[in-house]
Amino acid sequence: MCGIVGYIGFREAWPLVIKGLKRLEYRGYDSAGIALIGDSGLNIYKKAGKVSELENFSVGKNLSGTIGIGHTRWATHGAPSDRNSHPHTSNSGTLSIIHNGIIENYATLKEELLKRGHFFNSDTDTEVLIHLIEEIYKNDDVDLLEAVRLALNEVTGAYAIVVMDQNQPDQLIAARKGSPMVIGVGEDEYFIASDATPIVEYTKNVIYLNDNEIAFVKRDELLIKRLDNVVQTPYIQELEIQLELLEKGGFDHFMLKEIYEQPRSIRDCMRGRIYPNEGFVQLGGIKEYAEKLKNIDRIIIVACGTSWHAGLVGEYLIEEYARIPVEVEYASEFRYRNPIITEKDVVIAISQSGETADTMAAIEMAKEKGATIFGVCNVVGSSIPRLTHAGVYTHAGPEIGVASTKAFTAQVTVLTLIAFYMAQQKGTITKAKMVELLTELDLIPEKIQRALESNDLIKEIAAKFKDSRNCLFLGRGSGFPVALEGALKLKEISYIHAEGYPAAEMKHGPIALIDEEMPVVVIATKNSSYEKVISNIQEVKARKGIVLAIVTEGDTEVKKMADYVIEIPDASEAFLPLLATIPLQLLSYHIAVLRDCNVDQPRNLAKSVTVE
Ligand code: AGP
Ligand code: GLU
Repeated sequence: MCGIVGYIGFREAWPLVIKGLKRLEYRGYDSAGIALIGDSGLNIYKKAGKVSELENFSVGKNLSGTIGIGHTRWATHGAPSDRNSHPHTSNSGTLSIIHNGIIENYATLKEELLKRGHFFNSDTDTEVLIHLIEEIYKNDDVDLLEAVRLALNEVTGAYAIVVMDQNQPDQLIAARKGSPMVIGVGEDEYFIASDATPIVEYTKNVIYLNDNEIAFVKRDELLIKRLDNVVQTPYIQELEIQLELLEKGGFDHFMLKEIYEQPRSIRDCMRGRIYPNEGFVQLGGIKEYAEKLKNIDRIIIVACGTSWHAGLVGEYLIEEYARIPVEVEYASEFRYRNPIITEKDVVIAISQSGETADTMAAIEMAKEKGATIFGVCNVVGSSIPRLTHAGVYTHAGPEIGVASTKAFTAQVTVLTLIAFYMAQQKGTITKAKMVELLTELDLIPEKIQRALESNDLIKEIAAKFKDSRNCLFLGRGSGFPVALEGALKLKEISYIHAEGYPAAEMKHGPIALIDEEMPVVVIATKNSSYEKVISNIQEVKARKGIVLAIVTEGDTEVKKMADYVIEIPDASEAFLPLLATIPLQLLSYHIAVLRDCNVDQPRNLAKSVTVE
């Protein structure tokens, strides 16, 4: 869950690496550090705190060198501190390393190295690895590439590492297993990073290193091997990211920009996949399984966090339209159970980053048990799409804000298309009904644009709620996952404790929490459970609760009883989650801003949970 950047070439490394770390800071920001080999040898600067703190610390220091490695950390072993910041060095101080992941057997390795006279300056697992590399480098009389390869064969866990040797400033050694790594291919220069965002402004030619591969990188040479020493042919791909999408574009925060991008991102997600007039859906990524989908027994959705909420919406849609039983599982729970899975199951893994460790592990287990695995991911070339049998990209574009917004609505859109596609294959939906649904779906981007127009009203309401200590979100049917998602958004960026509940469940406990201090956000749009939700609102009001209701525009009934009302355009029940989510995203955003929280990089979080 951290960000790594390496550079070797003809440019000054420091400005390039520091800028790259800023682009990766959404992956973790407990501390940052950079090592350079310049005119005075190896210089390492590292500090607890954000990349900007490192930048301030480096003023006036020797930043020379055209080779460097940098790291922005999300701590797993050893508290966030200067001493635990990466890069870490070996016993001699000549080798340095940056690492994303966990060395699971670090304690055993450390014990052995201590016996051999090694001393350690940090509490991290990473430092043990660079000491092990040096131990082999010195005693086995091998070159650095071989020493790293042999050391990694002794390691269990996940890693994306870059190793640098002060005495060989013409080479970097990189390797990955379970954590992401991209190598940018320039003219007499190479870039290494956790994802493509630090690389794209210099080159669009990249190599996605595969698990258990190691790379030997010189200014004019690249060698890739597997850990079993078999040389690999590098596969160079061309990046699709546009640089301007990585900037804030005039918004105060990436999160707000991404909320406002949703009309476009949902349009991009549907492009080339829906044919409203002809009444059919086309999903090229899974079409080779079209026949199989006619006879599957069950769909199991595995995901984490917001992606799990999208999975719950998918469950409603797939069961409603394709009449296939669906189970939605937390990947972190699913992977440690011993679930019954057969060849007649399809597992759908949902992940914005495509790098979530628990989701990847769930995929591996389901695959071993014979299931067909589909991926629903946003980051092209990430690890999960390479693990699955097939899949559907969400095409939401880079999502930099840690709190997922456009990725969620894009995931829900893809799951809607998958539900319709499976219904089409199984014949559980008429052509006329498909024409009707797709015609309405085609108009959703414009309706989302209209939902965004409540922004000023939502900002006013946010001012009333910003000092709340708790908040309850209630919804029924597909409004329930929307309530969960609204609660997660609020808690992860404003640090207000919030819970999402099925509205009917309130009577089984949570109603005890209701008082005049407790805001209750209710998804009260016109749908099959509207009357029941009205009763729930009355139960809250009877206990002096404060109600903010999300209603269908023109609603007069709820307005009589709720304290605050936000209207969204009318839509069929199938598409309500896409619309009802918008005001909840804006509500959490404005509350967090009013509370002076770090909206794009909330405390303790990271954008991609690549550790377990
Ligand atoms: C949501 O706002 C959070 N960023 C988090 O819950 C996230 O959805 C979760 O970590 C899953 O990430 P993924 O979609 O990249 O797998
Ligand atoms: N396990 C390493 C540490 O705690 C790396 C963590 C990360 O991937 O950010 O320093």
